[in-house]
Amino acid sequence: MADGEYRPATLDEVRRLRAELNLQKKKLVFTNGCFDLLHAGHVRYLKQARALGDALVVAVNSDASVRALKGPTRPIQSQNDRAEILSALRSVDKVIVFDDQRVTKLIEDIRPHIYAKGGDYTIESLNEEEHEALEFVRADIKILPLVQGRSTTATVNRLLGNTAPEKEIVVASPPGGLRLGVLGSGKGSNFAAIISAIKRGELNAAVAVTISDVQNSGVMKLAESAGVPAVFVDPGPEPNKLAKPAQKEICDHLKKHHVDVVVLAGFMRVLKSPVLSTFKDRIVNVHPSLLPKFKGLDAPQQAIDEGEIESGCTVHLVNEELDGGRILEQATVPIHIRDTAEKLHERIKEQEHKLLPKVLNEWRERGLPVWSEGKK
Ligand code: GAR
Repeated sequence: MADGEYRPATLDEVRRLRAELNLQKKKLVFTNGCFDLLHAGHVRYLKQARALGDALVVAVNSDASVRALKGPTRPIQSQNDRAEILSALRSVDKVIVFDDQRVTKLIEDIRPHIYAKGGDYTIESLNEEEHEALEFVRADIKILPLVQGRSTTATVNRLLGNTAPEKEIVVASPPGGLRLGVLGSGKGSNFAAIISAIKRGELNAAVAVTISDVQNSGVMKLAESAGVPAVFVDPGPEPNKLAKPAQKEICDHLKKHHVDVVVLAGFMRVLKSPVLSTFKDRIVNVHPSLLPKFKGLDAPQQAIDEGEIESGCTVHLVNEELDGGRILEQATVPIHIRDTAEKLHERIKEQEHKLLPKVLNEWRERGLPVWSEGKK
């Protein structure tokens, strides 16, 4: 190592620090993140995290893990540089670099007394495996408020000369970009993944409108806070079906917002004409199984019940047949021995969040007509 060159902490060093603090009845605070471009929001957050205990250890995602999480254009700075910058902060005692997308293993190895996370999370939305590990090591989980108006994305946009507020980036029609109409019934994590990909510049698109059959659903709330028009359409009395007036109303909203591509992101009712005929070969669905296996509801549970060793997700075109249109791309996910449907579904969703924006962007790059010539 050259003179003065920085070296992140090793796991052994962090574990020793934890042991020393424990002896002195002091508390180790632990947090993690990419910290690609350090901004005042990070600095304030880390200061607050440090104030929760007696020493702060920050785990920084390795370059490979940032790429896997945020796409090929990130990180902007190398893992060593990011770690070195963080370690210069008065609030930070040690910085360790980790290679996974999750910190489950580090939580188990370090056993922090306190775990701090930024306010874009709630205790419920923490990753299930990480949450379990935190409970197992009896760490106190603290969600700290986000510092408004400071983000790496906003900084990158300013550097690129894109001064439009983030809300406008999401809803404005970019040149050559797709205008998406997103339909969802649930939490909206796929919707959030689309928005993030747009903000990161990895999906040249705008979300023109979001439509939900469930009032106050997660997807509606996310759309509202992203500044995307969010419409509730009353689905009618039958479960999983959409009454005729609802089919028409949805079609009218999509037309009114000049939608190019309709994205079913966890939309749990069956679409028919006029949407199918008006947007023929321009409707994509994401489904949590390796189609044609396990169509319909509870696909992760179906895969477990069948004793499969792997499952995954599929992005496909939508036609009259339930989950039956042309398959565009799939990603596989292993099924673990002790998997529950919830755990498996969560891991499948992590893949969906990458696959769906990627397929949409590829579609944009190839141009709509190519797929329209498809057989199905
Ligand atoms: C996703 O896993 C999606 O594949 C599934 O609903 C979930 C929605 O999650 N869709 C279906 O099962 C459709 N047959 P989200 O609301 O968090 O995006």
